[in-house]
Amino acid sequence: MFQNIFSSLIDGILLVSRDLTIQKSNPAVEEMFRRSKDLFEGRPVTELFPIQPDIQNKIERVLDSGISYRDLECEGFQKSTATPFPVSLTLSPYLDQSGHIQGAILQVKDMSLLKELQDYSRTLDNLSQMESLTLGMAHEIRNPLGGIRASAQLLRQELENPEQTEYLDVVISEVDRINRLIERMMNFTRPRELNIQEINIHKVLKDITLLEQEAVTQRNIRLEQVYDPSLPLIQADEDQLKQVFFNLIKNAIEASSDRGKIQLITRVSTGYSIKASPTANPGQSIVVEIVDSGMGIGESDMKNLFTPLFTTKSKGSGLGLPISLKIVENHGGKIKITSEAGLGTTAQVFLPVQQR
Ligand SMILES: Nc1ncnc2c1ncn2[C@@H]1O[C@H](COP(=O)(O)OP(=O)(O)OP(=O)(O)O)[C@@H](O)[C@H]1O
Ligand SMILES: [Mg+2]
Repeated sequence: MFQNIFSSLIDGILLVSRDLTIQKSNPAVEEMFRRSKDLFEGRPVTELFPIQPDIQNKIERVLDSGISYRDLECEGFQKSTATPFPVSLTLSPYLDQSGHIQGAILQVKDMSLLKELQDYSRTLDNLSQMESLTLGMAHEIRNPLGGIRASAQLLRQELENPEQTEYLDVVISEVDRINRLIERMMNFTRPRELNIQEINIHKVLKDITLLEQEAVTQRNIRLEQVYDPSLPLIQADEDQLKQVFFNLIKNAIEASSDRGKIQLITRVSTGYSIKASPTANPGQSIVVEIVDSGMGIGESDMKNLFTPLFTTKSKGSGLGLPISLKIVENHGGKIKITSEAGLGTTAQVFLPVQQR
């Protein structure tokens, strides 16, 4: 039974002997560091935390004096990808039956997802300070814009030279673009009440794919839908969630090349990621994944994704993701984006089944 518990834990466990080599590892820690068992056992534990000499000191103190440490923030190192990732470590002495210290037990929690989600939320916090300013400005800009548009239209009717009317068409369409942008910003900043109902997320996705069908067929994009039929209904605002999936699927289409593939996947969340968040809902949640095989996102752009007005597109407004995040957070959910430049992007939307 102990063996089963050891293998079933979602936190990583390492048993370290007195000479600081790893004696045992469980599957969770193997997954976290992306190495197989053989590459753990017998290896020095410091290999896993190369940039943190104080971890070695702390393990030595556990071995010498039997003290323990809880929730040490530290960086693990994935050798295969050569990338550090945040972990939380708890160190305890491993005692034999007569109470002698035989080694140390390291409990390793992967904090990557939690860290990322906190960073996103921080971007949103900065945002609220901007909100009142934005709203005020938006009003001020819209009024003169209305005047510019109306005058351009009148002038256009007067003109006969087609080349000149073309210039005015540009004025009018650009004014319209600014107007749309402002409208979206105002919708974004204006707090909107959630109209919560029991909804079927598959129906929401079906409506959105219908809406995007034309763009998809035109560009020969393969849209695969892998839905979990046992997915529960969720309590949410259908219209607002439609906006979220519209934005995410639109991004996936825009990133895809012609004949690319987009997958929509639904499943029940195993819950770890949401449980790990202090603000989250401990109840059950579902995940919707939008997986594209498009151009991907460069590393430097990753941290700006949820910053309002950040866009790499000539016609983008850079509001799709921040608006979507705000809606999902209002529902007590989370959005996580992972991407590899050149290979594609995955957007995961976690939504609690029940609102409280
Ligand atoms: N699936 C994706 N693949 C590649 N890049 C993406 C993807 N989703 C988002 N991005 C990047 O994130 C940026 C911000 O996305 P966001 O949806 O907020 O704005 P936008 O798509 O540029 O404009 P808008 O959605 O307002 O029309 C995009 O400009 C793009 O660089
Ligand atoms: Mg977008």
